[in-house]
Amino acid sequence: MHSFKELVNQFNQQFSTPHFPDAPTSLYDPCNYFLTIGGKRIRPILCLMGNELFNTIHADAYEVAAAIELFHNFTLMHDDIMDDASLRRGMETVHVKYNSSTALLAGDVMLIKAYDYLNKINIQYLHKIIKLFNKTATEVCEGQQMDMDFEKRNDVSLEEYIQMITLKTSVLLAASLEMGAVLGGASEGNCKHLYEFGKNLGVAFQIQDDYLDAFGDPEKFGKEVGGDIKQNKKTFLLLHALEVASPNQKSALLALMEQNPADKIEKVLAIYKACGIDAWANQLKEQYLQTALKHLEDIAVLAIRKYPLKELADFLIQREV
Ligand code: IPE
Ligand code: IPE
Ligand code: MG
Ligand code: MG
Ligand code: MG
Repeated sequence: MHSFKELVNQFNQQFSTPHFPDAPTSLYDPCNYFLTIGGKRIRPILCLMGNELFNTIHADAYEVAAAIELFHNFTLMHDDIMDDASLRRGMETVHVKYNSSTALLAGDVMLIKAYDYLNKINIQYLHKIIKLFNKTATEVCEGQQMDMDFEKRNDVSLEEYIQMITLKTSVLLAASLEMGAVLGGASEGNCKHLYEFGKNLGVAFQIQDDYLDAFGDPEKFGKEVGGDIKQNKKTFLLLHALEVASPNQKSALLALMEQNPADKIEKVLAIYKACGIDAWANQLKEQYLQTALKHLEDIAVLAIRKYPLKELADFLIQREV
């Protein structure tokens, strides 16, 4: 069994070989730029761990892991346009450094490259993997659209928020694990529990992302802190604040969202703090982590094989990056 650190090193070694031709540089330089400015590589490692849970790591798992990471980077490039984000992994986003049309095309070509990697795997698994990959990619689009639709609504429920983050974020973590497991010859039942582990962990992961977007350390987080507040994202922080705030705080929040004053971020953060967001965030994360761990327990392999996934789960919900 390998730790997250070991697998990241192994994956990055393979993934750092060129994915794109040289020309036109105006298209491929932005792709290479984005892939070399960092990234935690969580999803490809989940694929490798899902594979190693059942077997020694198969070469095909690396192909699928590469496809998943390319897909993820494609979604981020487009997401940064949608979210009007200027910073990613501590560096300029692609649409800011180059322009939006280039960021769209660079994202598109990354997605196409992802299918090239999928196409390399053993034909025996190809159909099943593409089916899961495409189902997941469709759900990510649905979640991203809901995320944008919610920007314009003030009546989003916690249930709708959880559904939205499940689609935009969790299903990709879940599918990464399951694709690895499929390639490892796992049974249907084990695949299901692993998928549910990833799905619940993914919810906790996005809750932490939303928390860090408001309260993260700008030096570590690598993204613009307060970006979600600026965009009127309906995160759990805002939903919880709207629910527990005093009438005065509530009308202040609604006015801040409407008017977008220069001090919007600090004012919203002050209300979040007054509403006890920290304790609520921890409670919500913990709830999903516990459900995730129950599904991990139910996977029928030796407990010792699950250790790297347990360790990764703890890291993901405590992370500052
Ligand atoms: C960012 O994902 C998008 C979310 C779903 C929150 P990561 O936090 O995994 O981004 P990188 O790849 O490590 O930069
Ligand atoms: C992004 O959610 C999810 C996808 C890219 C599919 P966010 O918009 O919260 O991700 P960050 O914070 O920009 O990484
Ligand atoms: Mg974003
Ligand atoms: Mg977004
Ligand atoms: Mg975010």
